Amino acid sequence: MKKFTCVQDIGPLDIALAKAAEVKANPFSDQILGKNKTLLMIFFNSSLRTRLSTHKAALNLGMNVIVLDINQGAWKLETERGVIMDGDKSEHILEAIPVMASYCDIIGVRSFARLEDKAFDYNETILNQFIEYSGKPVFSMEAATRHPLQSFADLITIEEYKKVERPKVVLTWAPHPKALPQAVPNSFAEWMRETDYEFVITHPEGYELSEEFTKGVKIEYDIEAAYKDADFIYAKNWSKFNDPDYGKVVNIDRSWMVDETKMQLTRNAKFMHCLPVRRNMIVSDDVIESKDSIVIPEAANRVVSAQVVIREMLKSL
Ligand code: CP
Repeated sequence: MKKFTCVQDIGPLDIALAKAAEVKANPFSDQILGKNKTLLMIFFNSSLRTRLSTHKAALNLGMNVIVLDINQGAWKLETERGVIMDGDKSEHILEAIPVMASYCDIIGVRSFARLEDKAFDYNETILNQFIEYSGKPVFSMEAATRHPLQSFADLITIEEYKKVERPKVVLTWAPHPKALPQAVPNSFAEWMRETDYEFVITHPEGYELSEEFTKGVKIEYDIEAAYKDADFIYAKNWSKFNDPDYGKVVNIDRSWMVDETKMQLTRNAKFMHCLPVRRNMIVSDDVIESKDSIVIPEAANRVVSAQVVIREMLKSL
């Protein structure tokens, strides 16, 4: 595997899930694969889970790990070609990428949507520069439009907790005070679409995601109808995709918060969220603390999804 940015890069999901089960059962069996190999993790944005789980996955594989937080101690990077660099940015990403690549074997990149320019975000300008100019296998640790390591971990978790062969999985928009990217819901939709689950997205009108990710998916604006008989409730906030309000929050309707009343409509649904989550905005204390909340095993499976991806990349070196 030379890149991992979307569901297509992992191949058939049944095989990917079998690899995940293998990694989970024997996390240290491939240490020789990573010996004397270096993973460079580059963060343009903050992280807790991705940082730790990906690092742990690489250690499980016997790798060395270097972590660079671009905004803490590195030179401020220019990302646009053709710019006269007379401002505060000291280094161009087109030099920085090959230099960073020369110190490692595999690169993980976290670069969120800036929510200022839809074309810049949806062209995955930063991630694609790493793929084009590093000459190394590159995987996304959440980019502007997708978070595939999260979605893979979500899928692993659903498979572990589902009680019926074809569960009803509901992705629900939930309120949040700040504008957030669409990467997690885009990606979750993209991965769920590849399964045979009954998959439904519910959100207030105006929060439609890009059809690139939702084509063929049932969109239910009636939140109660969406929750009815659900087996999994996956909550996430996202800002608007459609113009003219791209990247904006136009509605903080608190009635969309996941709470006990709505969970009562489900078939004892499991509650999922990628975390970090704002309690009593996205989800009530009661729901996230309930026996049906699986946010912690979901986060723990981030090691597994990362380890499967890095292992495939090591095999391709
Ligand atoms: N879910 C997730 O990617 O968490 P972090 O932003 O903390 O890495």
